[in-house]
Amino acid sequence: MIFVTRKTHFNAAHRLHNPNRSDDWNSETYGKCNYPNWHGHNYIIEVTVAGSPDPETGYVIDLGDLKSIINEKVLEPCDHRNLNIDVPFLEGVIPTSENLVKAFYDQLKDEVEAAASEGSILYSVKLFETERNIAEYCPYITIG
Ligand code: NI
Repeated sequence: MIFVTRKTHFNAAHRLHNPNRSDDWNSETYGKCNYPNWHGHNYIIEVTVAGSPDPETGYVIDLGDLKSIINEKVLEPCDHRNLNIDVPFLEGVIPTSENLVKAFYDQLKDEVEAAASEGSILYSVKLFETERNIAEYCPYITIG
């Protein structure tokens, strides 16, 4: 099994807020991340494809193709946007890093796997909200 990763970045604004709970609950739960007038992050996203190299090209996936798919499916909709209100595929999603990695994975899966070598999978999506705060979604790992 070979893992190939494309790392890229985007900037976006968001606010953590659950509209089904009270303002006090939101403030206690999310702290500064609940401030009403948004805040921004310099997000870094890592997209990892796993598989065997195609015998003709030697690629698990052409990284130029992977770059284009990430641009189309994640960066164009999200970069310099407000994740709470501007991005159709995030409608109704509280934009925590956890929810974002799952949504980004679902956005990318079909096109990435169609572009990759036979039998390859979109293995994981990892999102750095800050240098120290990171979420990763990998549906192939289960606990328990
Ligand atoms: Ni934030």
